[in-house]
Amino acid sequence: MERVLSGIQPSGVVTIGNYLGAMKQFVALQHEAECLFCVVDLHAVTVPQDPEALRQNTRSLAALYLAVGIDPGKAVLFVQSHVPAHAELGWLLQCIAHYGELGRMTQFKDKSEQKDVVTAGLFTYPVLMAADILLYQATLVPVGEDQKQHLELTRDIAERFNSRFGETFKLPEPMIPKIGGRIMSLQQPEKKMSKSDANPNAYISLLDDPDVIRKKISRAVTDSGREVRYDPEQKPGVSNLLTIYALCANRSLAEIEAQYADKGYGPFKNDLAEVVIETLRPIQTRYRELMASDEVERVLRDGAERAAALAAPTLAEVKRRMGFLLPQ
Ligand code: AQP
Repeated sequence: MERVLSGIQPSGVVTIGNYLGAMKQFVALQHEAECLFCVVDLHAVTVPQDPEALRQNTRSLAALYLAVGIDPGKAVLFVQSHVPAHAELGWLLQCIAHYGELGRMTQFKDKSEQKDVVTAGLFTYPVLMAADILLYQATLVPVGEDQKQHLELTRDIAERFNSRFGETFKLPEPMIPKIGGRIMSLQQPEKKMSKSDANPNAYISLLDDPDVIRKKISRAVTDSGREVRYDPEQKPGVSNLLTIYALCANRSLAEIEAQYADKGYGPFKNDLAEVVIETLRPIQTRYRELMASDEVERVLRDGAERAAALAAPTLAEVKRRMGFLLPQ
């Protein structure tokens, strides 16, 4: 059976991009594989976070995992910092990864651009991500397109370790959805949608109110002309909206194109807003119930225990192979 691991940063409220690119796959996978999903709070602090907001976003993200359909009876749901083995293996792998290969990570280049201060953690974060995955001997990692390069790095680090110290890590495969792997910003369709975008009109958050969703979609950048056609090169804005529509309504792009063939952007955008609102309605209702209960705390306590037990043998094996004197 495949073992799946994936994580999301509590760096804001998750967007419909995170949902369609990653979380939706998580929900499907939990029925057919052994799954671990985490709130990667150690990754979030690679850029400045307000401490109180980080705490709230962490709890809120755990509630959203449950609200979208993660079943703690099937999958292990936990917070990364609750399992210290992540940070420990992260350090050990930093001593295996090369400076040069980290410098080639495009996400680092994007995120460090025009920043006054770039932390060392932002630079080494892909190694911590490798540790997250390798710690559990995960074989499959469902992620959006933006994480593909980090997955390749994870495999390189694992192969290097295995060839130097002997077969220790399984090599994970990325699992990227054919459509929805890269949902774009509503304001700059050449850029991916991000939960930490300074402009809230660029994304739809899973917790946006219906009126906010209507406004954001009506203001979404579209392309010249009025034809609703999927053509990411010539019509990136409309193509992105079509992708969101198709994934939320579980319909094909061709069917939606045909429906709006002679109607233009206005009716298409109005209907899309309603489709998104209806997709998010049950998630938001469940989220509010969870936030008002202590279920999140209970699930995370149990998840941390289960994750720590799964992580321990790999960490011990890595330390033994690297030559650490193990405490007796
Ligand atoms: N725009 C996107 N389209 C599809 N998938 C996406 N993912 C992120 N953005 C998109 C996928 O969501 C998962 C969680 O991402 P993350 O929180 O670990 O970090 P990220 O990739 O940096 O996501 P954001 O939203 O852009 O966060 P910030 O703004 O904090 O940097 C991953 O599987 C990711 O591929």
